[in-house]
Amino acid sequence: MSDREAYERESLLPESSGDSKYLYPHSAYSRPRFNLNHLLTAFVAGTLACFVTQYAICGPACFTYHREQVAAASPVAALANPAAGSTERHHFPPVSPTNAFPSLFPTNVGYAGGTPTGAEAAVIATAPSYPFHTDAPVLLAPKPANSSFNILRKWGNLSPWYSVPRGTFGLDSGPEIPETCRVTGLHLLHRHGARYPTAYATYGGPSKLAGRLNPVASQWTASGDLEFLNDWTYKLGEEVLTPFGRQQLYDLGIATRMKYGFLLKNFTESNTIPVFRTESQDRMLASAMNFAIGFFGYPFEGQYQQSITIEAAGFNNTLAPYKTCPNAGVTEISDRGKPYVSEWAGIYLKNALQRLQAQMNGYEFSIEDVYIMQQLCAYETVALGYSKFCELFTEDEWDGFDYSLDLYFWYNSAFGYALGRSLGVGYVQELVARLTHTPIPTHNFSTNATLDDNPITFPLGQSLYVDATHEVVVLQVLTALNLSTLAAQGPLPADHIPEGQTFKASELAPFATNVHFQLLECTSVPDPQIRVVVNDGPVPLTGIEGCPTQKDGMCPVDTFVKAQKKIIGETDWAYDCHGDWTIPEGWETTTGDTPK
Ligand SMILES: *[C@@H]1O[C@H](CO)[C@@H](O)[C@H](O)[C@H]1NC(C)=O
Ligand SMILES: *[C@@H]1O[C@H](CO)[C@@H](O)[C@H](O)[C@H]1NC(C)=O
Ligand SMILES: *[C@@H]1O[C@H](CO)[C@@H](O)[C@H](O)[C@H]1NC(C)=O
Ligand SMILES: *[C@@H]1O[C@H](CO)[C@@H](O)[C@H](O)[C@H]1NC(C)=O
Ligand SMILES: *[C@@H]1O[C@H](CO)[C@@H](O)[C@H](O)[C@H]1NC(C)=O
Ligand SMILES: *[C@@H]1O[C@H](CO)[C@@H](O)[C@H](O)[C@H]1NC(C)=O
Repeated sequence: MSDREAYERESLLPESSGDSKYLYPHSAYSRPRFNLNHLLTAFVAGTLACFVTQYAICGPACFTYHREQVAAASPVAALANPAAGSTERHHFPPVSPTNAFPSLFPTNVGYAGGTPTGAEAAVIATAPSYPFHTDAPVLLAPKPANSSFNILRKWGNLSPWYSVPRGTFGLDSGPEIPETCRVTGLHLLHRHGARYPTAYATYGGPSKLAGRLNPVASQWTASGDLEFLNDWTYKLGEEVLTPFGRQQLYDLGIATRMKYGFLLKNFTESNTIPVFRTESQDRMLASAMNFAIGFFGYPFEGQYQQSITIEAAGFNNTLAPYKTCPNAGVTEISDRGKPYVSEWAGIYLKNALQRLQAQMNGYEFSIEDVYIMQQLCAYETVALGYSKFCELFTEDEWDGFDYSLDLYFWYNSAFGYALGRSLGVGYVQELVARLTHTPIPTHNFSTNATLDDNPITFPLGQSLYVDATHEVVVLQVLTALNLSTLAAQGPLPADHIPEGQTFKASELAPFATNVHFQLLECTSVPDPQIRVVVNDGPVPLTGIEGCPTQKDGMCPVDTFVKAQKKIIGETDWAYDCHGDWTIPEGWETTTGDTPK
């Protein structure tokens, strides 16, 4: 990362109005920003003298510890903590560690011992039942009295992925291979793992609450359930994977190898290695690397080739198609979700606002502040393993939060988004090329001719593909594929959660969400079949022209491809992405199409 980028990232984090001479940019632990006037009014003189002396001796690192001592000594005093809500960061590794001598630590010393390998695992084909992914053992989520309520699953796109219950998408079927069938191929499209908040947020945005609380930290005191806020600092970075996010991709790599490892035999027989794709963003590349070390083990060099496409303005890239589509940058087109989210938050968080305000003195919460506390629960949990914010809300309020993200992604990415189809169609073209072993005929969407026309960088007819992308792109691909049963409910209302709400971001686009396009050959049907399995839940393909009603969600590959070609032919990138159109008042789409 260049200095300039580093600066830009830093500058996006919440700033306090604290006197800059009290900033300690090189502190390893915390960066309290306090104003001497605040301190003078907040502490009795003796305490202050002691405090200043200790501070001078051990610096900011002992700040929090010291404060706790003071608080314990005088429990009744309402001690305003000027560091509350300040940003705390830890920079590791040090830039020039004094003991780093790589030459003394060779990575290859020989003497590996025996290295015979065994056969490939094939759990998807051989095991009597399927190993579902149900938990995140390294995260501490508060366990509510009602054990059927799992808070981790109520965070929309911030939920860690899990195997959705049987029947979630309307088929009484599971991810196991249907009887009479065998797997001949897998196309895996997955999202990166858990990350810090993104720099940009249209509604909410975790750093904003800290940025509001800290400058006036001497004026407010929280009590009751909110008492922890008095000592709370903002500890989240931006954009990059968290340690748990790394684990998600590593685990996904291992699980994929265990289930589908036998597909590698195909490569050995044809004397080739797989090509997996990701893109250049730090978390995308890190996700792909963690997947690879899970899938191939250490060292993975020589076992596959990693294509790293560029996510930046102007680069054709089906894994980041919005960068090629100017209209995707127009707020009125691409952020229709915001008013829905803000209206809905005003409804479902009304009681929470009152409840929490009663425990806060000297600062008036907005609905958005309370929404941010829900975001902080999710982000702190996946970054730090635990969050006090999680305990503040009821099950209904978590359902409300989950739904706010359904609204957001419906209107901003998927079936309710005017560019949902256009942005997803580039990947669909690539899928069709791979399924038909035929190069893409015309590059008139987000595909990149340089990469996709080269059989080395974009091989066709392989048995295994793995592509990493963002949740918005996964949703755009599901939209472009015309998986219309997912959109059956139509436009989502902002004033209530519809009965049996089916379009769920937590089920379709959580952290490390994974879509399996399974290719099957069955004795029960003549033609090769395809199934789309999202987070272990098969999705009906009946919305796709010609696909039969089939209990396991199978459709003949030829039929599927024919319909996808029709969709590609009916989508007009030039108009959608470059055309001068606006969204008419009251207009809606449930197919991700532009107003025509
Ligand atoms: C417990 O969860 C179930 C299923 O979500 C729900 O029907 C029930 O009302 C919940 N009970 C309480 C006390 O929240
Ligand atoms: C296609 O991808 C390559 C490699 O990432 C890149 O150098 C090139 O600029 C891209 N082409 C277009 C038209 O974006
Ligand atoms: C990039 O995408 C645009 C828009 O579809 C297309 O006109 C152009 O040919 C593509 N370029 C390459 C090199 O893929
Ligand atoms: C490899 O997989 C492809 C696609 O499924 C198939 O056409 C081909 O016959 C397989 N090759 C071998 C050697 O099994
Ligand atoms: C796409 O979905 C719509 C709505 O379900 C349907 O009417 C149309 O036939 C589908 N088109 C194709 C090509 O699958
Ligand atoms: C884009 O190319 C596809 C073939 O890949 C073709 O079916 C479609 O008609 C083209 N669309 C436009 C708008 O040129």
